[in-house]
Amino acid sequence: MPVPKGVRGGVVTGWGIAVPDKVVTNDDLSLRMDTSDAWIVERTGIRERRIGGTTSELAIEAGRRALERAGRRPDEIDAVILATTTPDGIVPGTSATVQHGIGVPGGAFDVNAACSGFVYALSVAHGLLAIGAERLLVIGAETLSRITDWDDRSVAILVGDGAGAVVLEATDGPGQLLSWNLGADGSLKHLLKCDHGGYLYMDGKEVFRKAVRVVVESAEQAIAEAGLTPADIDVMIPHQANLRIISAACQRLGIPEEKAVVVIDRYGNTSSASIPLALDDALTTGRLEPGMNVLLTGFGGGMTWASAVLRWGG
Ligand code: COA
Repeated sequence: MPVPKGVRGGVVTGWGIAVPDKVVTNDDLSLRMDTSDAWIVERTGIRERRIGGTTSELAIEAGRRALERAGRRPDEIDAVILATTTPDGIVPGTSATVQHGIGVPGGAFDVNAACSGFVYALSVAHGLLAIGAERLLVIGAETLSRITDWDDRSVAILVGDGAGAVVLEATDGPGQLLSWNLGADGSLKHLLKCDHGGYLYMDGKEVFRKAVRVVVESAEQAIAEAGLTPADIDVMIPHQANLRIISAACQRLGIPEEKAVVVIDRYGNTSSASIPLALDDALTTGRLEPGMNVLLTGFGGGMTWASAVLRWGG
């Protein structure tokens, strides 16, 4: 949807990430299961991933860094929105642990839209700004390693742990969000799932096919509703599930692959943490600057998908 004119908008004023210290390489995995560095790199683009910690620990660390960069104290934040599909437990929401850990006095809630979670959370956060919130901490944090069967090569080679956070602040003028869309199709829930007490299961081939289609449709819609064309996108920040999915999506969208930020080589698939991890990379390397048009786009279990187009800096 295009963001209606006159709506109180927001800008990202701080960002930060946290990843576990422990690096697990493809060679490490090939000692344990029938796979190889060459196969994983060729089929996924992943070279290594970080494993360890809890979702709340990673989220707290990333959140503190984002606050520091924004120059804000925890007591200036109205709410913590945590996108995660690997909460510390079922109850309470992990966001409450994060809110307490950081020392935010405001509200806290989890968003579970699997790997689309961060874009869902960011969209919801803009809605809260429109109805009066001043500052929000939006975090994507995951410990997929905790729901992974480390003897199942169909999943274990793909996943990693990590967190990324942004501080989103209300502005007087138009904010940075130009358009957004959220989608879901629960009839596809069997393709990617984890039951209580179980492990992550995915039908990799089918997820791959559907992912490319939904990401392209969702991104095209968001770009058009922002009043832009694919040629106007300066930086694309896709969910990091497979480098081949990113390449295929770029190709179909007509966005040169060099414009896509890729961190999957270092982190693997970190679900709702992957977009803020890539966003942080784009910002710290100077690839994303004020005034640029940036496309965030993701898909995941559900299936769900979500895209947003922002003019960086508002
Ligand atoms: N290591 C080595 N060989 C493997 C392997 C592994 N980890 N997994 C499968 N293989 C083998 C298969 O047995 C098959 O061998 P065969 O040709 O002798 O039968 C061959 O490699 C190809 O397997 P296939 O399943 O067709 O591979 P693929 O190209 O579809 O890649 C995925 C598998 C999982 C990497 C890929 O389908 C994928 O990334 N899907 C999307 C997953 C995703 O995005 N999930 C997250 C959504 S948020």
